[in-house]
Amino acid sequence: MGARKPFSKVIKANIGDAHAMGQVPITFIRQVLACVTYPDLIDKADFPPDVKKRARDILGACGGGSIGSYTASHGIEQIRQHVAEYIERRDCHPARWQDICLSAGASTGIKNVLQLLCNHLDGKPSGVMIPIPQYPLYSASLAEYGLTQVGYYLDEAAQWGLALDELERSYKEAQKDCNVRALVVINPGNPTGQVLTRSNIESIIKFAHAHRLLVFADEVYQDNVYAEGSQFHSFKKVLRELGEPYSSTLELASFMSISKGYMGECGLRGGWAELVNLAPPVQAQLYKCVSAMLCPSALGQAAIDCVAKPPMPGEPSYEQWAREKANVLSSLRERATLIADTFNQMEGFKCNVVQGAMYAFPSFELPPRALEAAKAAGKEPDVFYAFELLEQTGICVVPGSGFGQRPGTFHFRTTILPQPELLKQMLDSFKQFHQAFTAKYA
Ligand SMILES: Cc1ncc(COP(=O)(O)O)c(C=O)c1O
Repeated sequence: MGARKPFSKVIKANIGDAHAMGQVPITFIRQVLACVTYPDLIDKADFPPDVKKRARDILGACGGGSIGSYTASHGIEQIRQHVAEYIERRDCHPARWQDICLSAGASTGIKNVLQLLCNHLDGKPSGVMIPIPQYPLYSASLAEYGLTQVGYYLDEAAQWGLALDELERSYKEAQKDCNVRALVVINPGNPTGQVLTRSNIESIIKFAHAHRLLVFADEVYQDNVYAEGSQFHSFKKVLRELGEPYSSTLELASFMSISKGYMGECGLRGGWAELVNLAPPVQAQLYKCVSAMLCPSALGQAAIDCVAKPPMPGEPSYEQWAREKANVLSSLRERATLIADTFNQMEGFKCNVVQGAMYAFPSFELPPRALEAAKAAGKEPDVFYAFELLEQTGICVVPGSGFGQRPGTFHFRTTILPQPELLKQMLDSFKQFHQAFTAKYA
């Protein structure tokens, strides 16, 4: 019985949750999960034989043959092996299953590795370089762990790439207050939607090596690459191909998730970290810390297994799996283009190509009277705009100040996840809103 609004529902373009916006689950994953949770289905359900075999294999690796039992803290060994095989297929370089640590979503994996940096040296805390704009898990976790946030700006004019002089500036300025020990790179980017070029990754690796930084390669969107000419290059692959002295010395933790990609299984909580070149006692310490939390969700691990070892050509589930995957990704590709094109037609808006991930992060200008109105309302201008948008249209986006942006610029992040029809409606009402807003404050 609240206030009447000029819309019937809120469009939640604020969070990267594909299923919440109507994306349908991948059949193979759900059939395997159905069987592992209710094993009677293995005999009774009309599911393909490779689904049933997979369910039996997963259950065989679980304590007492039940998905309800605790697993090893860093994950079921068989699934870690499948993840290592997935990485080998992706990169054409060896991966060791012992270096794979499964987690409850990538978030937990990232936090676990960040915890390794929690010591003070020479009375100074550790600093972690993170992109601005950034995904707020990083700022929040750094604050929680007493680590110093060292922001480096992404270069909006260069498709949100990482500029070497900006990395050096941020590193040097921070050195007096903290020991800078790690560098976070999100590729493909959230909230910025860029896919880094291989040469950019090479320079980042050289920079990190020169300053002995542990690289956090947040690669949860590795399957979400849309733009013509863009390609995902994993940090691990580029590191191996750069050769020595980088290949065997740069410390790297790379993260992947089942929440994104074509799967979008956010609620199942599955992810992994691949640890590269960590000193064995450090890795042992990490595995010891992880064991205090018992284990990541076994159901999430079962879903990881389906992602790391999907049906292969010739297997009964392959065609349906490949079709469903391709449909999700091609629809996301169309939505990525539509959204950037629409924003670029709007007065005062500039939106980089959404090369990958699930978001657009356009910049927009606000008339001076809107800035005054925001000030009078006690809000940042982009927050004021986002609230007005929500109030008038029911479209929920996140203001750029939630991720960080260069002072004096305004952005917001929207996902590309509303299904195509809804997205078209959303963009139409967005355009109308923006015209009315600009006219009101002209
Ligand atoms: C860049 C990035 N990293 C990590 C995560 C965490 O994902 P999850 O914990 O669901 O695997 C997200 C979620 O949106 C993300 O965008």
